[in-house]
Amino acid sequence: MTYQVIIPAAGQGKRMGAGKNKLLIELNQIPILIHTLFVFENDEDCEGIFLAIHPEDESEFKTLIRKYKISKIKGLVPGGKERQDSIYHALQTVREDGIVLVHDAARPFIKKEQIHLLVETAETKDAAIIGVPAKDTMKKVQNGIVTETVERSSLWIVQTPQAFRFALLIKAYEKAERDHFIGTDDASLVERLGVSVTMVEGDYDNIKLTTPEDLIFADVILKKNVD
Ligand code: CTP
Ligand code: MG
Repeated sequence: MTYQVIIPAAGQGKRMGAGKNKLLIELNQIPILIHTLFVFENDEDCEGIFLAIHPEDESEFKTLIRKYKISKIKGLVPGGKERQDSIYHALQTVREDGIVLVHDAARPFIKKEQIHLLVETAETKDAAIIGVPAKDTMKKVQNGIVTETVERSSLWIVQTPQAFRFALLIKAYEKAERDHFIGTDDASLVERLGVSVTMVEGDYDNIKLTTPEDLIFADVILKKNVD
């Protein structure tokens, strides 16, 4: 089952504090951006990659794309202020119908089998996201005081990719734009249309590289994947 993927890569990586876009940081001598792009480049079901990039990174990213022979990029768009703006820009350049994935460039450990399971689910359900059950006890806290212990069995930690039928995703983004709604993920925009989103169980390795200690975990995950 084929799909196209939008990859937002236009952030600044402020929490990583590397003084540059965190996606340029190397793991095993390969930039994080390229690790992520390789997953889709090497997946025969992926028909096109749409990448949102920060204008400041444009020449460096283009050099890397050439160097690592990433051939599936069909669109390269300037990012926006928020992640959602970057994805909206990219979405407007996707022309064909079918299943569209959104996947953060900062999650290099997504596996092909999980992508396929997600795409298969989206084919029948129209909207599917990947996540893992919460392991820790979760509480609501206000002004430093616990106000509620939330029932853990219903809580999931949400990751990307998130997969949608193209027509549905564009409708959700257009409505969010009209309403000036900013969500923390793509599915939340689709949920606002009253459409059900199906959860697919992924794995705990699919972390988003956000702060410096995540790079230590990243080295361990890479090593585990090679062994
Ligand atoms: N992203 C984007 N456009 C933005 C902001 C973020 O395309 N305006 C992308 C990032 O490049 C990243 C993904 O969205 O691949 C998830 O964002 P996050 O992990 O928050 O990355 P940054 O925004 O770069 O990091 P920070 O929030 O620490 O600055
Ligand atoms: Mg951010």
